[in-house]
Amino acid sequence: MSEVTRVTPDPDRNLALELVRATEAAAINCSRLMGFGDKNAVDGAAVDAMRPVLGSVRMNGVVVIGEGEKDEAPMLFNGERVGDGSGPEWDIAVDPVDGTTLTAKSLPDAVSVLGVSPRGTMFSPGPAVYMQKLVVPGYVADQVDLDAPLADTLARIAKTTDRSVSELTVAVLDRPRHEQLVAEIRQAGARIRFLLDGDVAGAIMAVTPGTGVDMLVGIGGTPEGVLGACALKCLGGELVGRLIARDETEKRAILDAGFDLDRVLTTEDLVAGDNVFFAATGVTDGALLKGVRFEARRIITHSLSMRSRSGTVRLIEGRHDPERSFLVNH
Ligand code: FBP
Repeated sequence: MSEVTRVTPDPDRNLALELVRATEAAAINCSRLMGFGDKNAVDGAAVDAMRPVLGSVRMNGVVVIGEGEKDEAPMLFNGERVGDGSGPEWDIAVDPVDGTTLTAKSLPDAVSVLGVSPRGTMFSPGPAVYMQKLVVPGYVADQVDLDAPLADTLARIAKTTDRSVSELTVAVLDRPRHEQLVAEIRQAGARIRFLLDGDVAGAIMAVTPGTGVDMLVGIGGTPEGVLGACALKCLGGELVGRLIARDETEKRAILDAGFDLDRVLTTEDLVAGDNVFFAATGVTDGALLKGVRFEARRIITHSLSMRSRSGTVRLIEGRHDPERSFLVNH
């Protein structure tokens, strides 16, 4: 048989191709509320649309990362069973909209995201709402050090890619807690891409050529850290981080739950193994994905669907018929 016609003997099912329907449904439904100023309504619309589609997928899933606890928004609950219950068990990480405020205010970079890995392989954050994160592209992944001065990491990226530090761009959530970090990046001479929200998209941008982002740093949600790790498993690159306590009460709760606040967590710690699936659909226009477009008699979505084992990354443009699509008619 020639090289061209040879196929893998048993090409198994790629769950990410089915999961993308769930992020498409969430993105379509919640983007109808773009600019309405109601972030909880955005989250509710995304969850309502995603749940039945996820329920139709042939799998036995348990939600490990059901984002929402941070702000008591509508959510898929941790421990909730998703899928039709058949086959092996899977861990599910889901954020029906990463960027609810972005959507409510019609700002860029909101995405709907979903990650799946074999049961027991996903990090469950317990009471640790926030974590410190550093995300770098694959070509420096083996040299990354969470505690090294940022200037050193930037110099390494610059050297490897034959650029100067002043030509690099670092994504950081625009938060008062990052004042020191921002000063450090400026001191090193790199440019900053402030994210108003949405560090899952930020993490993906940091490892995706063409997005204009070379690295992500700062403190963001722990659930979003696990989702970012799912994406990085598929794309390459590395996320290293550490759980953060906001106050003494939270610190006690995290320690009592058996977590170590000094431990450096790697991508592999956040989601282990090589059988991770990830899907994302743009809600509002962003550097990573275009947002949902409502055109005459069709709705357009832009999604990513990827799998770690094969490393295949698919960019999917969906054209949905508003009259006939199950994803649209709720
Ligand atoms: P949601 O839109 O899902 O609420 O999360 C947005 C987000 O910006 C995340 O991407 C990020 O990890 C986290 O919130 C940061 O938290 P905070 O807004 O409290 O700084």
